[in-house]
Amino acid sequence: MFQQTPPMGWNSWNTFGADISEELVLTMADAMVEKGYLAKGYNYLVIDDCWSLHERDKDGRLQADPEKFPHGMKYVADYIHKKGLKFGMYSCSGTETCAGYPASFDHEYIDAETFASWDVDFLKYDYCYRPMTVPGRILYHRMGNALANCGREILLSACSWGADETGKWIKETGASMWRSTGDIFDSWESIKKLTYQQLELLPYAGVGCFNDMDMLVVGMHGKGNVGLGGCTSQQYRTHYSIWAFMGSPLMIGCDIRTMSDEDRETLQNEELIAINQDIACRQPATLSSYGGWKPDDLLILFRPLSDGDLAIGMFNMADEERGMGFVIDEMGIPVSSGKTLLLHDVWSGKDTLVKNETYTEKVEAFGCRVFRAKIVNK
Ligand code: GAL
Repeated sequence: MFQQTPPMGWNSWNTFGADISEELVLTMADAMVEKGYLAKGYNYLVIDDCWSLHERDKDGRLQADPEKFPHGMKYVADYIHKKGLKFGMYSCSGTETCAGYPASFDHEYIDAETFASWDVDFLKYDYCYRPMTVPGRILYHRMGNALANCGREILLSACSWGADETGKWIKETGASMWRSTGDIFDSWESIKKLTYQQLELLPYAGVGCFNDMDMLVVGMHGKGNVGLGGCTSQQYRTHYSIWAFMGSPLMIGCDIRTMSDEDRETLQNEELIAINQDIACRQPATLSSYGGWKPDDLLILFRPLSDGDLAIGMFNMADEERGMGFVIDEMGIPVSSGKTLLLHDVWSGKDTLVKNETYTEKVEAFGCRVFRAKIVNK
């Protein structure tokens, strides 16, 4: 299925793990609409691992656990669709899912048909318990082909954690997004690690198939399945800014029914969402701080947008305030052009005209600045 911009939505894994149910999913669908997420573009509601029984039925089909989902999956799909949302489910390319439920190896076509019969719109497809005799790219080709022929448009979300150089072959399988790194945990160390791992993979990102940096931990504050200490709201803002800026799918992982207004505002920043959803989906480039000096914990990125604006992000990954800045020549705006930049800060709303060739600003510990910049006459 063709996907123009990074998918957005909510996924059950980060907070709920195996503890999922029809009631949880239906109330989450309500919250996605009532709390304004759908209106901002978050339209996929995805049930992750642990939704099925441990056995297939007599015809070899996957079956939902009736204790968790008493009315079955079509009922859940109908409810989600009535809300204007799309419905995502989960399986795995091996013989079992990562949590030990039946998975789709050698059942790709029958499972794709089953998902289509439930009106599923999105399939997250994992990489556990796979047979070592079949290469990963063939496993994803199998499900890519099965979905493309199941009679329904179903987005394939590959989840092979970047293993086996996934970025080199995933686009040929029909996937629309691919997990480019390992699992996220709700800690600043995890956010930082995934961010730096992503830098080398950015050339693989682009329209049609997006580098998935894993579900967001914004708003978890240490609670839930991948809660590991938690982060501050400032750290969540920087985490969200990086994921949005780098063009990752934006899949929320916290309990949006109970989260704070502050974290909700983070997830609903329209200007950042617009950068993430820019139709050109260009890869960001790294800039050196002050034109040459490039300390490890200061990350400065820029990204040309489809209307001629530039997105510029300064991310302070350090645990102390730092002076940060950039030279606009590095973005292709030499002094001789007579041009400069008008910076619009997407978090504070402040506008600043760059007066010199260099822009500098102090950025608080774990903080960030994201600008949407216009090229203007000096
Ligand atoms: C992992 C995957 C997680 C989650 C989990 C379920 O492999 O990366 O996002 O889906 O499996 O067991």
